[in-house]
Amino acid sequence: MSNNNVQIFDTTLRDGEQVPGCKLNTEQKLIIAEQLDNLGVDIIEAGFPVSSPGDFKSVEEISKIVKNATVCGLTRSVENDIKVAAEALKYAKTPRIHTGIGTSDSHIKHKFKSTQSDIIERAVKAVSYAKSFVEDVEFYAEDAGRTDNEYLARVCEAVIKAGATVLNIPDTTGYCLPHEYGAKIKYLKENVKGIDKAILSCHCHNDLGLATANSIEGVINGARQIECTINGIGERAGNTALEEVVMILKQHPYLDLDTKIQTEMLYGISQLVSDSMGIYTQPNKAIVGANAFAHSSGIHQDGVIKNRETYEIIDPKDVGVTESAIVLTARSGRAALAYRAKNIGYELTKLQLDEIYTNFLDFADKKKEVDDNDIHQIVENSKVYNEITSA
Ligand code: KIV
Ligand code: ZN
Repeated sequence: MSNNNVQIFDTTLRDGEQVPGCKLNTEQKLIIAEQLDNLGVDIIEAGFPVSSPGDFKSVEEISKIVKNATVCGLTRSVENDIKVAAEALKYAKTPRIHTGIGTSDSHIKHKFKSTQSDIIERAVKAVSYAKSFVEDVEFYAEDAGRTDNEYLARVCEAVIKAGATVLNIPDTTGYCLPHEYGAKIKYLKENVKGIDKAILSCHCHNDLGLATANSIEGVINGARQIECTINGIGERAGNTALEEVVMILKQHPYLDLDTKIQTEMLYGISQLVSDSMGIYTQPNKAIVGANAFAHSSGIHQDGVIKNRETYEIIDPKDVGVTESAIVLTARSGRAALAYRAKNIGYELTKLQLDEIYTNFLDFADKKKEVDDNDIHQIVENSKVYNEITSA
C-alpha cells in the first residue's frame, strides 16, 4: 500500500445502523454490502456479532458474499465477544476483528470504575486474544477525542506490541476541533514506539458538525484510514460522511491523498441506504442531497448556463448525478427560462422571451416551482409565441 492511499472503512452497517428505528434485515444488509464492495471501500464493518443472533447472521452472510473488501466485526474487550466475532467472520476472505475499550478518564472512572493501568492490561489481552483468530486486528480507544494524549500514546504502544495492525482514534462524542484532532494524530505519529507497524484511523462523530473536517485533519496529519458511513448516518448526529471525505480528497489533489472509491456510484448508493433505512436525506446535504447540483437564483443560473464551473466545484457526473438542475422559481431570470424552454423544444426569440418571461413571473409567484408542463402551458398560451409561429 502506497503511503498516499487512504483506506475507506465503511461502518454504515454497524455504527450507521445504530440510528434509532433504522434496523435493517439481513437481506437488506447483503444488498448494501455488495454495493459497498462494488463502490471500492477497503473495509466493511458488517456488524457487532455478539449483540444479537440477527447481527451474527448478517456478519456471517456478508462474509460469504464480499469479494474484495476486508470484512470486519466489532467487539468489546471481552473474550466471548471476540470468539463470537471470529466465528461470524470465518467465511470472510480477509477478516478483521475490531476490538477496544474506553480510554478517557470519564470512561475509566464511570463506565469501568477502573484504573489506567488495568485498562491497558485489558486492551492488550483483547488484542492478543483476537490475534489468535485473525491476523488483522484493529484496536479502538473509545473516547480518544477526550483522552489525554500521553496516556493514549501508552495505550497505542501496548496494543501495537500485542499485534494490533490498525489503531482507531475515535472522537466518540464529536467534541474535538479540527486542529485538536489533527494534533492528536500528529502526537501519536511522533510519540508512539512502533507506530510504523500500524495504520492510524480516524473515527469522528458529528455532534458539532465537525466529523468530516476532523477526519480530513486526521489524514493530513498522518492517519491513513477514515471510518465513515453513507450519508453520514449514525449514532446521534451521525458519523463522518463517506461521500464528503472521498470527494474532498478527490477535489484537492495537492493533498496527494487518494482513495479507491468509484465516485460515480456515490449518488446511487446514497439513495439505496436512504430508501432501505427510511431516512430522508436533507436536500442541502453535500454531494448527495437533492439540491447539491440545483441552481435556483437568476444570477447563479445565468452563470452556470454560461459555464458550469462558475458555481459548481464538482462535475455532477463524477458522483453519479446526470446533470445540474436549473430550477425555475420566481427568483429565476430570462436565461434560465430560455434554457429550460429550449430543453423541451422551444427556441424563443428575444421578443417572445420578453413576453413569456412576464407571464412566467406571474405564474411563478403563485407556484413554488415551475415544471416542464407549466412551461408548455405558459409558452403555448402566450400571444406573441402564437403570433410569430403562425405567421
Ligand atoms: O464512536 C466510537 O467510539 C465507536 C467505537 C465503538 C469504535 O463507534
Ligand atoms: Zn462511533
